[in-house]
Amino acid sequence: MADPARPVSPATLAVVGGRPPRTPGAPVNAGIEVTSTYVQPGDIDPALPLYGRYGNETWAAFESVVGGLEGAPDGAVAFASGMAAGAALFSLVPRGGRLVMGATSYNAMLALARERAAAGDVELVEVDVADADAVRAALTGAAWLHLESPTNPLIEVADVPLLCGLAREAGARVSVDNTFATPLLQNPLTDGADVVMHSATKYLAGHSDVVLGVLVTGDAGLREAVEHQRALLGAIPGPFETWLALRGIRTLPVRLERAQATAGVLAERLVSHPVVARVRYPGLAGDPGHAVAARTMRGFGAMLAIELPDRDAADRLTHAVQLWTPATSLGGVESLLERRRRIPSEPATVPESLVRLSVGLEDVEDLWADLDQALAGLG
Ligand SMILES: Cc1ncc(COP(=O)(O)O)c(C=O)c1O
Repeated sequence: MADPARPVSPATLAVVGGRPPRTPGAPVNAGIEVTSTYVQPGDIDPALPLYGRYGNETWAAFESVVGGLEGAPDGAVAFASGMAAGAALFSLVPRGGRLVMGATSYNAMLALARERAAAGDVELVEVDVADADAVRAALTGAAWLHLESPTNPLIEVADVPLLCGLAREAGARVSVDNTFATPLLQNPLTDGADVVMHSATKYLAGHSDVVLGVLVTGDAGLREAVEHQRALLGAIPGPFETWLALRGIRTLPVRLERAQATAGVLAERLVSHPVVARVRYPGLAGDPGHAVAARTMRGFGAMLAIELPDRDAADRLTHAVQLWTPATSLGGVESLLERRRRIPSEPATVPESLVRLSVGLEDVEDLWADLDQALAGLG
């Protein structure tokens, strides 16, 4: 890899990491390694690649950049999707152990945890991650704390460093879903977490053209365990998808900077819009997560949620926009919005009237004009 010897900033690492050695005639970009198997005569040499379910050079390039950005250069393991990464992550929770988790986490992660609890694999305790006292109480005797911050879709903020400290005192391991913040705004491993998870489908890949996941850990034993899960269950990423995600990461710093700036402007304007009942964005001084985000994160991100007078108004908004795309998912260059409770598995804690907005890279005035005309039609 062409990683420079002295530490560089994340914005630089996103560009220079994961490249082939800088030898004359070498390609500048990692290749897309398309093979299911590798030449290996005689006894197996563990230093050499063997088979496509165990490793791939394109994965390695992507993993080295994500690992570097999260503070564990050798610790990233890519998966076929964020949920494949999440399933491997939950497999680390010891059988019968207590798993403490945010009650408003991403709905499929919650569903997975609830299924494991129903099967008797774990004892699940759901908590409000923004309430440190509640988390502390739930951690007594716990094996694992899984946090997501900011949360999807309520955009609540957990005090990650504080909660990692509480978990450590209680003897519990901690994982953090860092999908919304990205490694540029918070590094949970540095805050004391054991494992970081990403739906790389979102900001890391950044163009709504890939489904991919990744786990990152600085603990060699945990890394081996998740790699083992990937090899055993076979939820491996495709080389093409991984290459697209690597290409996407090159522009993550500029994409996020722009989207975040636009999100801040839109949030301020939405607050004073007469049809909007509530805006959830930690960058707003009045947001319940503002103080914690300002202290623990390096920015407020580009995800926000608004509450409209009722479910019907929220649905009508998604039909009325012309520039914003009414679609699920987030973190791409194009701005998306969605009434989250239309998803049947979305928890009842999410208001029916809530619309989640993923701010992309279009011009801020165009985005605002479209929202404004769509909201005006609801009055
Ligand atoms: C916070 C969060 N975690 C995990 C996932 C699951 O990722 P994927 O859809 O890549 O499987 C998502 C997907 O929306 C998400 O938003």
